[in-house]
Amino acid sequence: MAAVAAKLQVLVACALLLLAVGCQASPFWPLEIGYYHDKCPQAEAVVKSVMEKAISQNPGNGAAMIRMLFHDCFVEGCDASVLLDPTPFSPTPEKLSPPNDPTLRGFELIDAIKDALEAACPGVVSCADIVAFAARDASCILSRGKVNFQMPSGRRDGTFSNASEPVKFLVPPTSNLSDLVDSFVVKGLDAEDLVILSGAHTIGRSHCSAFVPDRLNVSSDIDSGLAAFLRGQCPSDATPGGNDPTVMQDVVTPNDLDRQYYNNVLSHTVLFTSDAALLTSEGTARMVVDNANIPGWWEDRFEKAMVKMAGIEVKTGDQGQIRKNCRAINYY
Ligand code: HEM
Ligand SMILES: *[C@@H]1O[C@H](CO)[C@@H](O)[C@H](O)[C@H]1NC(C)=O
Ligand SMILES: *[C@@H]1O[C@H](CO)[C@@H](O)[C@H](O)[C@H]1NC(C)=O
Ligand SMILES: *[C@@H]1O[C@H](CO)[C@@H](O)[C@H](O)[C@H]1NC(C)=O
Repeated sequence: MAAVAAKLQVLVACALLLLAVGCQASPFWPLEIGYYHDKCPQAEAVVKSVMEKAISQNPGNGAAMIRMLFHDCFVEGCDASVLLDPTPFSPTPEKLSPPNDPTLRGFELIDAIKDALEAACPGVVSCADIVAFAARDASCILSRGKVNFQMPSGRRDGTFSNASEPVKFLVPPTSNLSDLVDSFVVKGLDAEDLVILSGAHTIGRSHCSAFVPDRLNVSSDIDSGLAAFLRGQCPSDATPGGNDPTVMQDVVTPNDLDRQYYNNVLSHTVLFTSDAALLTSEGTARMVVDNANIPGWWEDRFEKAMVKMAGIEVKTGDQGQIRKNCRAINYY
């Protein structure tokens, strides 16, 4: 009798498990981990190998992909709309908008990954998933494996891109905390995601025009040593597209994706008003301190926040398309 009851229990448990698995296939729905497992088994390995080579040649390629994901996802969702080139029918796509032009980089690297994937599995892997995988791999490589996570996939590529959109959703580096938080909340992210994802400013570069003159004036709270250094690097009339040199964002460990950013925020050695703004509320300031002080704290949260950001307004199923060329929509 007891044996029968035990068997019945197992059966019921299995049925419940099947039901649960069947109804809720992925906690990342509508995306899933390993989406290309059957369709193009080598897809993620191909992206990773191109990224490893590109970052060994220039770590800036890794920074480029992480920023690319942010600028893709905050505008029209993560659908690779940022990659589209101008055409006679769409003469001013997102990439020509001030938040992207002329500072967003890495378009050729996306092309190289796409070429490798089209050779392996033609017409299968979306450009939107390429951006997400490339940003994930960049995070892993530049953190020396400390930021190591699976990236859900199954995104499809958008067909609409317009320069009027990025200026609505990507706030400038002169923004105060309330504008920054609002811009994240609009996309389903929160103040902690802002603090955690801003940690990406521990790698890569900035053009002088992003912080001149805003951060080099008398009322700025920027560290006087850093200000003196930046005055030496940057012309006082730096303008986008004009005379506009670049500097490293993190002067301490410029190519390591680590928690140094939070120490920099605390010591006022960050470039942007938007970085310094994280200290202007008690809640976000406490988060900065935790990220700076507790080993592993930031890495763990950055992994989750990247997945969250990479899930913004994604297109799946019969929405959008799988582009053949990441710079142009397919015509039938
Ligand atoms: C919260 C608001 C944010 C603002 C205002 C902001 C602003 C900027 C600016 C002005 C630059 C310099 C670009 C240049 O002049 O070349 C930059 C660079 C960068 N940002 Fe942000 N950012 C924000 C959030 C993020 C997020 C969420 C990420 C990714 C998780 C990110 C990743 C990067 C990276 C990696 C770079 C270096 C890019 C390169 O080296 O090409 N940023 N950001
Ligand atoms: C596209 O952007 C341009 C320039 O920003 C704007 O004038 C135009 O109205 C936009 N078109 C659409 C369809 O949104
Ligand atoms: C933040 O900046 C906006 C302008 O972008 C301004 O309207 C707002 O009052 C500022 N908020 C605070 C709290 O300073
Ligand atoms: C001076 O810099 C601070 C940020 O460091 C900024 O909030 C302020 O608006 C700037 N003032 C002027 C006059 O540019």
